[in-house]
Amino acid sequence: MRNLIDIFDLSVDEIDALMALADDIIKNPRDYCDRLRGKKLATLFFEPSTRTRLSFEAAMYELGGNVLGFSEAGNSSSAVKGESISDTVKVISAYADIIAMRHPREGAPLVAAMKSDVPIINAGDGGHHHPTQTLTDLFTIKRKKGRLDSLTIGLCGDLKFGRTVHSLISALSRYRNITLILISPDELRLPGYIKKGVIVENAMKYSETTDLDLVMPVLDILYMTRIQQERFANRSDYVRLKDSYILTEERLKSAKPDLTVMHPLPRVNEISVAVDRDPRACYFEQARNGKYIRMALILSLLSEQWLSCPDKKQPFISPVGMKCENPSCISQTEQELPQEFRLVDREKGIYRCRYCDTDILDK
Ligand code: NCD
Repeated sequence: MRNLIDIFDLSVDEIDALMALADDIIKNPRDYCDRLRGKKLATLFFEPSTRTRLSFEAAMYELGGNVLGFSEAGNSSSAVKGESISDTVKVISAYADIIAMRHPREGAPLVAAMKSDVPIINAGDGGHHHPTQTLTDLFTIKRKKGRLDSLTIGLCGDLKFGRTVHSLISALSRYRNITLILISPDELRLPGYIKKGVIVENAMKYSETTDLDLVMPVLDILYMTRIQQERFANRSDYVRLKDSYILTEERLKSAKPDLTVMHPLPRVNEISVAVDRDPRACYFEQARNGKYIRMALILSLLSEQWLSCPDKKQPFISPVGMKCENPSCISQTEQELPQEFRLVDREKGIYRCRYCDTDILDK
């Protein structure tokens, strides 16, 4: 059985196959409208969502399947009674054939996958990963540019808490000749596990700047993101940083004529509404693509060929007394979950949490 917890769960060939399938679904929707008759998708959304949840649901309905689930853990799930992820998932996997889960705690979908009898799709875990948005983003780039290599890509906004950016960079690390330009306020730079663990580790070309205007002329793609208000520990920091970047028609004057402007949505004010008229704006098309690539993913995870592929195995250890220090990690709340780490730097004594990827120094 296969899950999609982070984008590295898929090989580049599998991503290509998903995109080819999504293209075929767009061309021949009638061939797919009955494929999952009798199957059920559970959408367990412990955190708000409009697009992602509804695109999963629309995807399942368009394949002829059914949907059950909840969209507000606070009012309508047993999480409010203190139920663990493990118990919730064991129960739901008796009712549904596949589960899409969004959770504010980083690593929650991984814990779900460890307990579930049916495939789990991570629909966003805290500020950590969002692999189906990444499939949407790759599919959009491929359709617009005809390729996924030899591109200069600007990622702008909240690179610290923006999970879509973390998953997208992870995916791009496997394509050739990508140049990343990381545009953010100093306080909202990428976390170490992406910068060191993905960009440096894979020798990707990259630069960092706070100045969007300076780099605008060289970009093939500009990926704007929202400042993630809900993940700030301190409201005054959010207020200070929230208007860091606002993309306007004026600013786009120095951009390439074939720039592609992307955004995972929802937008707050980081792209002015007037930009929607610019033919380079691609974010609504991107949202539309999300439904088709999710159709391809659900179909593939429920198909015989995909069932047989082995899950990746990694050596994890539990050094005595070591605890993850990330307050948003699932290991802080899930009962009896072992604290597990991977040794990433023997010399400096750095361990990385299995669930949320936070680096811990062995003291
Ligand atoms: C993103 C998310 O939830 O991380 N939205 C989405 O899935 N389309 C981006 C965001 O919330 O800013």
